[in-house]
Amino acid sequence: MTSAPAGMGHPATAFDLGARLSRTPAPAAVVIFGASGDLTHRKLMPALYSLALQQLLPPEMTVVGVSQTAWDDDQFREEMRQAVATHGPTHMLDADIWEAFARRLHYVPATFDDPAAYEQLRNTLTTLHQGGENPGNRLFYLATAPEFFALIAERLGAAGLADEQADTFSRIVIEKPFGEDLGSARTLNQRVGSVFGERQTYRIDHYLGKETVQNLLVLRFGNAIFEPIWNRRYVDHVQITVAEDLGVETRGGYYDQSGALRDIVQNHIFQVLSLVAMEPPARFDSRSVHDEKVKVLRAIPEIAAEHAHDAAVRGQYRAGFIGGQPVPGYREERGVAPDSNTETFVAMRLTVDNWRWAGTPFYLRTGKRMPRRATEVAIQFKPAPHLPFAQTAVESTEPNLLILRIQPDEGASLRFSAKVPGPQVDIRNVSMDFQYGSSFLKPSAEAYERLLLDALLGDSTLFARWDEVERGWEIVDELLQRWGTTAIAASNYAAGTWGPTEADALIRRDGREWRRL
Ligand code: BG6
Repeated sequence: MTSAPAGMGHPATAFDLGARLSRTPAPAAVVIFGASGDLTHRKLMPALYSLALQQLLPPEMTVVGVSQTAWDDDQFREEMRQAVATHGPTHMLDADIWEAFARRLHYVPATFDDPAAYEQLRNTLTTLHQGGENPGNRLFYLATAPEFFALIAERLGAAGLADEQADTFSRIVIEKPFGEDLGSARTLNQRVGSVFGERQTYRIDHYLGKETVQNLLVLRFGNAIFEPIWNRRYVDHVQITVAEDLGVETRGGYYDQSGALRDIVQNHIFQVLSLVAMEPPARFDSRSVHDEKVKVLRAIPEIAAEHAHDAAVRGQYRAGFIGGQPVPGYREERGVAPDSNTETFVAMRLTVDNWRWAGTPFYLRTGKRMPRRATEVAIQFKPAPHLPFAQTAVESTEPNLLILRIQPDEGASLRFSAKVPGPQVDIRNVSMDFQYGSSFLKPSAEAYERLLLDALLGDSTLFARWDEVERGWEIVDELLQRWGTTAIAASNYAAGTWGPTEADALIRRDGREWRRL
């Protein structure tokens, strides 16, 4: 990220996230493992094509798809054309631009453990290189099932494909989940790390690519008014919610092995939490930002098994109604075991034990099949210390709230008390609102566009560094073990509700309530 000059006469913004979009990466081959999979169809190819459409990629960029499906180059191109037509924005498919883009798509069929396939991949890359299609830079993107991550990295290493020359790069982008607990994450990191250095490794957390998550940094560090009150003296507590109305869709098989704690809390919510709670970094470079984020995670105590009950609640949805339509219970979903013990809802209370946040709880919740999709951070401030309205009917006011809406309706609102017009003193809460949609005329970049571009540019600021991932697992590891060995109170919330009653009890114990969304 670049800093805007803070000179006289130039409005000093702390940094300019958009500036990265104006840089063009060096030509490279983007090699996608898992090229026939869902992620490639829905996200990666539309993102790459959109970058090409916006002329943010150099014309020499090539994309090589690798997967077990027996396609040739032309079949791959046609498949990807349909993927972009289906999943890209409707205006995206321009016949001429697609033709030029498609010429640079290539395909290598491969079984991921077959060393010969990596030889073939190397030959393909060498041929493209010699044909002048790229200068030898490579970005390997692992969009496969997680059990292949370490194997592919090792095979790439054995084929000499991880080596960098003085003027070329070789990087690896790893999709989530990065491990399934502390032990497996460490093993994965060690195996990948024996081939690709940390500097070459980009662990995706697509929440960091969301415009509104990045805006959190601008709001905090690009404005002078929030930082003085962003601490335990003024903040009563923080609530972070990631609510989805969808169920597990076609991903029951994966999800049933994962559950909400692994799927959302350990990665997405912890990343958002660390951005909310971190100290201002001295500079907006990757190292400074990661250093501050990991300090937050280190200040969060691990959830000890014996305190699991006080700190966290889990739930699993039963059949219910979403938007008036009946939907099945979790255990009836395709790919899910009929006696599944997997949680589809988590509520949690954490503390950040440092000077800024001591005594200020952070409440986190996430769930599938909630009444609506809503991801937000709500900072609730402490009440006014004294209300000088003794002669009136006003006995109390609602607390001030700063709400950062990550999705949908991206934006921010500040809730504060205002006088109701009239001869009496009557006070109500009102909102001051900022909405992305109406404030800016251009649409937000898709998270994957930004992240792919950053990986090509060699900017790892918006990726998860290993020590953050490891600390995330450390915090929840005992809880995971405990939940893995004890039965869930099955079906303890109906689809279309805000989770089990135990989640309400968790926050009410502190005399607080979940926000109604
Ligand atoms: C993914 C999870 O990482 O994030 C999914 O695996 C979840 O289960 C998704 O639905 C939510 O992402 P978004 O961008 O829709 O909030």
